Amino acid sequence: MFDRLKSLIHKRTYGAMRSARRLPDPRRGQVEQKLTELGPWFHNFQLAADLWTNPGGSGPGADYPDWRWRHVRTLLPGVVGKTVLDVGCSSGFFSLKMKELGAAYVLGVDAGEQPKAIEQARFAADTLGLDVDFRTLSVYDLREIGRQFDLVLFMGVLYHLRHPLVALEAVRSVCGDALILQTITTPHDRALNEIDSATLQKVGLRSPVLMEDRFPTVRFVEGALDNDVTCWFIPNPQAVVSILRSCSFRPNQSVFPTPHEMIVRCSTQ
Ligand SMILES: C[S@@+](CC[C@H](N)C(=O)[O-])C[C@H]1O[C@@H](n2cnc3c(N)ncnc32)[C@H](O)[C@@H]1O
Repeated sequence: MFDRLKSLIHKRTYGAMRSARRLPDPRRGQVEQKLTELGPWFHNFQLAADLWTNPGGSGPGADYPDWRWRHVRTLLPGVVGKTVLDVGCSSGFFSLKMKELGAAYVLGVDAGEQPKAIEQARFAADTLGLDVDFRTLSVYDLREIGRQFDLVLFMGVLYHLRHPLVALEAVRSVCGDALILQTITTPHDRALNEIDSATLQKVGLRSPVLMEDRFPTVRFVEGALDNDVTCWFIPNPQAVVSILRSCSFRPNQSVFPTPHEMIVRCSTQ
């Protein structure tokens, strides 16, 4: 009984938004109808005092992206007055959070397997009264924006791409100061245990180090991963940071929320 009560209370706080307000009728009914029309929603978050985007928890679950947000927050630089770009923003939860935290300008872009993402995100921003721009744009075309952002979020996208390094170079071109990247990985023990760089500099095709578990390694997925046909690559954590370095990022802090993913904060200096 106590557990059930606790889980009901929790459900109500997943994805809570500071900007959510009680909506008068008939506005509330209109918002609820549009919310249903625009479904399914990948992110579950609060749109109004008593309206959530995905309370039933289809897809990644009712507690997503709430639990990931808790980890991302620990890596966030100060965002007050900063510019933020959210690449692969889906229905916009992280972009909207950045605005609530005081970012001066936020742009979310998406162009992938979630065709309604931008429409959902715009509707959410409008309902919450948050001034955030959302645009349909592929990560490969980021240079078209023609400017840099203090902070770039690039979460849950890398392994969906057929050209991950090309994408990371495009992300680097618009990243002025800091990047937060999230990706799935092969199983790890929640720590980054790298081979020293001197050894990595002089690897030969016959070097035993090449076969070490700690060597940067990327698995290719031909077919589907957990029934998802949009996934192509699974890096180990060492590959994530070495690929980032090769794209001129400086990884400086990592967290490992689960044994098969990581979130990395990088600087550009
Ligand atoms: C797993 S979701 C992650 C969403 C969000 N960033 C998060 O962390 O919850 C991946 C998102 O990336 C988008 N996406 C896939 N390929 C893309 C591309 N080439 N350019 C921009 N977005 C892309 C998808 O449409 C989808 O919204």
